[in-house]
Amino acid sequence: MPLTVLDHALAAHILTRLRDHATPPEAYRPLTRALTQILVTEATRNLPVRPISVRTPLEETEGVALDTQIVAVPVLRAGLGMLDAVLELLPGATVGYVGMARDEATAIATAYYCKLPPMEARTAILLDPMLATGGSAAWAVNQLYEAGAASVIQLCVVAAPEGVARLEESFPRLQIVTAALDRELNDHKYILPGLGDFGDRLYGT
Ligand code: PRP
Ligand code: URA
Repeated sequence: MPLTVLDHALAAHILTRLRDHATPPEAYRPLTRALTQILVTEATRNLPVRPISVRTPLEETEGVALDTQIVAVPVLRAGLGMLDAVLELLPGATVGYVGMARDEATAIATAYYCKLPPMEARTAILLDPMLATGGSAAWAVNQLYEAGAASVIQLCVVAAPEGVARLEESFPRLQIVTAALDRELNDHKYILPGLGDFGDRLYGT
């Protein structure tokens, strides 16, 4: 399974601000959008393209157009903070929604919503900023493949080794692009050093 960890000065700067316990929700939201733009740029590096001609103000030249239909799928709630950035860069994408919530005591995720557009032969970009145990992502990725997605790319802000290993074992073709691969999970299945509960920080819960 290809795992890409961003190696980028601006991404590292933004991530540090997201980790900072003092960063308030009103700053969290634009920082999340900015970091997601970098994640999308990296994730789309090798998407298929087809050659097209274009007329500049001076002459005809050759260019390319993306040659795959993209479906962006935020995992509610926290993944919603990444959606606008994806749609700004990929305005032709359609959007599906997956609702998952971790039980606070057991950290086991349960699905409460799933609404997907046509997925057959599409490239799915799953938006879930935190990959901790991998329970939420595993359920969501499975839905996308079951619905016929040709490929799935997961964008994360922070991933834990435990979650990456779980997805690697279950989905050998899945591509993960993350801004950081952190050390471990604590006893409550929070990522260390992490940034806390992403949804709570984004929405001021
Ligand atoms: C968080 C996060 C991921 C999930 C990751 O969501 O946004 O979806 O935890 O944990 P996992 O890898 O152990 O499944 P949460 O359940 O807290 O819901 P929220 O987005 O509504 O805050
Ligand atoms: N979900 C979060 O938002 N943060 C973590 O550290 C783990 C799961």
